[in-house]
Amino acid sequence: MGPKNSAHSLVIEGLKKLEYRGYDSWGIACKQADKLCIYKQVGKISDAKLSLLKEIKESRIAMGHTRWATHGGVTDFNAHPHCSIDGKITVIHNGIFENYQKIKNELITKGYEFKSETDTEVAAQLIHYHYEKNKDLMKSIQQTLTELEGRYALVIMNDESNQMIVARRGSPLIIGVGPEKHEYFLASDVPAFLKYTNQVMYLDDEQMAIIELDQNIKFIDLQTNKEITKRTITLDLKEEEAQKGEFAHFMIKEIWEQKDTLLRAVNQDKHKLKVVANLIENAFGTYLIGCGTAGKICLAATYLFAKIAKKHINFAYGSEFPSFKDFIKEGSLLISVSQSGETADTLEAMEVAKEKGATLATIINVESSTMARMADITLPIKAGPEKAVASTKATTSQLAILILLAYASADQLDLGEQLLINAASQINDMLNPRYEDHLRELALKIMNAESMYIIGKGVNYPMALEAAIKLQEVSYIHAEGFAGGELKHGPLALISKGTPVIVLTAKDETYSDILSNAMEIKSRGGYIIGVGPINEDIYDYWIKVPDVGNASPIINIIPIQILSYHLAILRNNDPDKPRNLAKSVTVK
Ligand code: BG6
Repeated sequence: MGPKNSAHSLVIEGLKKLEYRGYDSWGIACKQADKLCIYKQVGKISDAKLSLLKEIKESRIAMGHTRWATHGGVTDFNAHPHCSIDGKITVIHNGIFENYQKIKNELITKGYEFKSETDTEVAAQLIHYHYEKNKDLMKSIQQTLTELEGRYALVIMNDESNQMIVARRGSPLIIGVGPEKHEYFLASDVPAFLKYTNQVMYLDDEQMAIIELDQNIKFIDLQTNKEITKRTITLDLKEEEAQKGEFAHFMIKEIWEQKDTLLRAVNQDKHKLKVVANLIENAFGTYLIGCGTAGKICLAATYLFAKIAKKHINFAYGSEFPSFKDFIKEGSLLISVSQSGETADTLEAMEVAKEKGATLATIINVESSTMARMADITLPIKAGPEKAVASTKATTSQLAILILLAYASADQLDLGEQLLINAASQINDMLNPRYEDHLRELALKIMNAESMYIIGKGVNYPMALEAAIKLQEVSYIHAEGFAGGELKHGPLALISKGTPVIVLTAKDETYSDILSNAMEIKSRGGYIIGVGPINEDIYDYWIKVPDVGNASPIINIIPIQILSYHLAILRNNDPDKPRNLAKSVTVK
């Protein structure tokens, strides 16, 4: 909203900047004179015929949305924005209203008809229901938000005013303060408007913002119904950092950026590391929490703390944490690991732990994220914007911080730093075009495999799980990771002639065991792809990595990232925006 007459094209531009987060349909609403103009459809914005939008001569208020289906199929009807029965109120929503079905059924008994299967349309209708009774839009929205349960970032427009009203509980929403007077950008992530401003204000949970054309923005605390003020923060982010440059895709660009990102991660505030190590030392139980790749990295960290610091650390996926919440109390420590800092399941675990009096630490990439603002102490990985859905550079930087923390817990922080600085220089040498060619050749050999397996022992078992995710996410091959010693207890039945099996090794106490596990597979016809410092006879294909001691989980995953990328390319998949996935899952 602002002085520019092209709000609708600014919104389209902003949605395109957020395409990397993954979606299946999109839509916009813009205010023209005194009517709302809505356009929505299934598919990618970039493929859409935007000619229709060319009819929109000018608009100073507009909103847009990319949908990642949760409730209802991928259809034009389910795409956002959604309107009230009279078309006068329209909303877009990021999150899930958990009690929508109950409210929908009540509204149907009151004569409301629904065009979509979504939880979001219920919000538009419920606002209308209250508005019909009290003719006060603000009160109707506040009433609606007290009745709807779940996480949301909600934006509301109506045809009777030049207002935009936004509110949030749990899902990200950032306000960009434009360079021009009374110019505001609203988005779930900064890249949407970074081209125009790096001045932002954060809307926190249970808060609302009211933006009226040519007026200053106003903030309301929904719990006290009192007006509040907000600080404007300058973000140290430049738009070009989030460009592909000479690379064909963000995924391969971010893989190669690991030549620098690891050293940036190692360059941590030592005092903070020691504070967290001390918290671990004195905690009534420490929990590492993460989802997807971040979850695997947390599991790997439990092995690193056991080996390096002789400490037991608990691990749970964010979505599974509720089963363990009764063990959390005052004095417990929860360390959340997340690239985006917005993953709903991890955020929910933090909220539960906070309620129980635990201390919150977080290892994140997006320093302006909700997790960073929620945690008592934040360890930023400084990997720069990560846009490809499959996490790569954030993965190795998260591991670096956790290795530093383990060494700090053993009071050997300098040793840990040395280990990682050495690993970073090894990665710098390892990442070269010839190395990438070697992995592309392997991809050509195994690109038609229906299934493949990855095994590891010790800390490389969770890395086998991470390797499987990478392959699943972008190549769509059914890949599974196993602890090497577990194969003979079941999965070995899956092996037949030529089945590709990747063996992650490290020159340590696990080496001989994982090789004999590989031998068991070889003798059943498996095609053995060895990842390690030494070329072994049983390998049908060797991927050389330097011996970097306890940093082996970092070095072993990089060739798998490159292999996954080339398998995606050879199988004509989009490595940056894989089907059905999103970069940051802000719904439970
Ligand atoms: C998924 C991403 O949506 O969320 C994964 O595709 C990521 O790459 C997972 O590991 C967790 O995300 P985050 O931002 O909490 O690390």
